[in-house]
Amino acid sequence: MTVKITPEQIAEQRRFMTLFQALPDRPRTYYIVTYGCQMNAHDSEKLAGMLDEMGMELSPAREEADFVLHNTCCIRDNAERKALGNVTWLKELKKERPGLMIGVCGCMVRESGMAEKLLRQYPFVDVAFGTSNIYRLPELLYKAAESRSRVVAVEQEQSTLIEGLPIRRESPYQAYVTIMYGCNNYCTYCIVPYVRGRERSRSAGDILRDIERLAQSGVQEIMLLGQNVNSYGKDLEGGLSFAQLLHEAGQTGIPRIRFMTSHPKDLTDELIDEIAQNPAVLRHFHLPAQSGSDRILKAMNRHYTVDQYLDRVARLRQAVPDIGITTDLIVGFPGETEEDFEATLRLADTVRYDSAFTFIYSPRVGTAAAKYPDQVPAEVSARRIDRLIKLQEKHTAIALNGMIGSEVSVLVTDRSKRDETMLTGKCGRNISVNFAGTPEDIGKVLNVKITSAGKTTLRGEKMEVSA
Ligand code: SAH
Ligand code: SF4
Ligand code: F3S
Repeated sequence: MTVKITPEQIAEQRRFMTLFQALPDRPRTYYIVTYGCQMNAHDSEKLAGMLDEMGMELSPAREEADFVLHNTCCIRDNAERKALGNVTWLKELKKERPGLMIGVCGCMVRESGMAEKLLRQYPFVDVAFGTSNIYRLPELLYKAAESRSRVVAVEQEQSTLIEGLPIRRESPYQAYVTIMYGCNNYCTYCIVPYVRGRERSRSAGDILRDIERLAQSGVQEIMLLGQNVNSYGKDLEGGLSFAQLLHEAGQTGIPRIRFMTSHPKDLTDELIDEIAQNPAVLRHFHLPAQSGSDRILKAMNRHYTVDQYLDRVARLRQAVPDIGITTDLIVGFPGETEEDFEATLRLADTVRYDSAFTFIYSPRVGTAAAKYPDQVPAEVSARRIDRLIKLQEKHTAIALNGMIGSEVSVLVTDRSKRDETMLTGKCGRNISVNFAGTPEDIGKVLNVKITSAGKTTLRGEKMEVSA
């Protein structure tokens, strides 16, 4: 059963915030290192929001902070190694500054055996907690600081629904809005259902209230977050579907809406029609295919065939002709033959994605596929991913060049890193667009005419203010 954090539990954490501030030699500054996906990025905004309310200040550099928190990811082995490597690196700093407090949270903490490993092999870690426990940060940090001993909290219950936390938003123009937590799909390669728990949808009322407030505060673009947003609401009795939620979100006055991630098996005609009719929904669809081989898709437990996937793509393009489609693809899944891999190349060739995240399969302890026979040798996977990336680069070039001459609307987010006189932002299709402009344009939605294409970015000229 899903348990919503109660106002009493939040009030209890507020008491710990006050107690913490009264500690004589408590940490004063913090730094958060974030790994992984948007879920983690948004969790870090919540963690920062709580630390702010505990009277701490964001440190400009990790080396100078009194408390360094690592919000970890364990989706692939390299993500995990990177996080653990950085935690270990701080051990040396702690020798010089014994007052330094080190925290580890996020998906990795919930991996089987990891809490014990942290306790045994990482004695310099002061506080560790899992993904459903982030709201307890004030309590855990207070206890660790007060007792000068280690505090580890790995969740007992799996299905916490977190509401009412302060959020320190990274941007005044763009905001993440979680619509659901967890995942029920158990793709056989994936650790997420184990470390994020079962699917829990937030109530539409809570979500829409958040979006209205964001719209009123001048936010131009929101990203609705969930591991499988297309199955939003299935766990709520009489709740809205994802298509209905998008419709309602479009009525809040928020100018631009994105969402991540969609599972092809749950992509309904209702949702496609809603996207087609809703002017706030941007023309980008991230639709992870994972593989182009029916045999491999079955072994991955994805619940669709290549034909069904292609049918969804065709329906999407028919209803929304200017939509840009992107994907995730895995090579080297156990048992993947050359023929299976060629099928993935064929799928990419048929769909012609704007871009694709390509991954080498990484076995995760506790998942079904980690126990499959026929693990693919690393050098075979490396060759395959090279071929796939080369093909995708060709398709990205075709997509970007095809946009030359068109007019796109861009939410201007930054100055270009390379050239001070240039601004940058993303167009509806989620492609970076660079153009000449002044800093006053940052935060605005502008019309830009595309004049040329680089490898992964577009260049253009400002037209006129459109919003
Ligand atoms: N919920 C999202 C994505 C979550 S993880 C979805 O289902 O689309 C992001 C991507 O990481 C996945 O789409 C998959 O392509 C990749 N991935 C997940 N587990 C992996 C593993 N064990 N090895 C390699 N790639 C993996
Ligand atoms: Fe992982 Fe599959 Fe869930 Fe995505 S849908 S988070 S790939 S189990
Ligand atoms: Fe990583 Fe957790 Fe996201 S494992 S990809 S941070 S849900």
